[in-house]
Amino acid sequence: ADIPILTIDGPGGAGKGTISNLIAERTGWHLLDSGALYRLTAHAALKHAIALDNEASLAQLAARLDVAFPVTDGQSQTLLEGEDVSRAIRTEQAGERASRVAALPSVRQALLQRQRDFYQAPGLVADGRDMGTVVFTEAPLKIFLTASADERARRRHLQLQEAGVDASLSSLLKEIQARDARDTQRSVAPLKPADDAIVLDTTRLSIPEVVDRLTELLAQRG
Ligand code: C5P
Repeated sequence: ADIPILTIDGPGGAGKGTISNLIAERTGWHLLDSGALYRLTAHAALKHAIALDNEASLAQLAARLDVAFPVTDGQSQTLLEGEDVSRAIRTEQAGERASRVAALPSVRQALLQRQRDFYQAPGLVADGRDMGTVVFTEAPLKIFLTASADERARRRHLQLQEAGVDASLSSLLKEIQARDARDTQRSVAPLKPADDAIVLDTTRLSIPEVVDRLTELLAQRG
């Protein structure tokens, strides 16, 4: 019970992924990218032709998900049934499908233990929507990372541009708003800060500023 843990929840595009990676690197702790598990479940459903509203089959699929996150030369990969899906699960469409699958209670239940298994020495950075409210309720330090929807759309736009992908800012904003709505309004594990979470609005903060702030908080609480 003395293994340190930091939970980082928040809406899509707030920088959780980047920040969680950097903190995990800095601390040497494990990293749980819980969104990837929902993205992988949705991807596996597509592959096995399971409809995204077939809750029982999707839960079975989630429970048996054959995934691996090997790291080679500092680059982490995501394998589904041995196939490299690192890029395929990162598209906006994959995110949209993930959020539909994530709204199903038995899918969330099926992924619960798999997420808790990441909690191992020397520590864990857990990135998601319900890390502090459901999966790791005992975590001593819970962060809720947000930014305005406009700023999140702008960041995603920049990210896509850098990756050579054309996307319109206004359609990205619409997608972000739609995903926010689905994630905050679902009946099970809706996106919201835990009662004991520290809410950090990053709209006007740079990535190093956020990392420094979190490192400070970890030092105070750790
Ligand atoms: O964080 P990411 O964009 O990869 O997550 C994809 C989707 O998975 C989210 O929009 C959300 O619906 C779902 N998710 C979730 N609970 C988590 C992580 C992600 O419901 N802990």
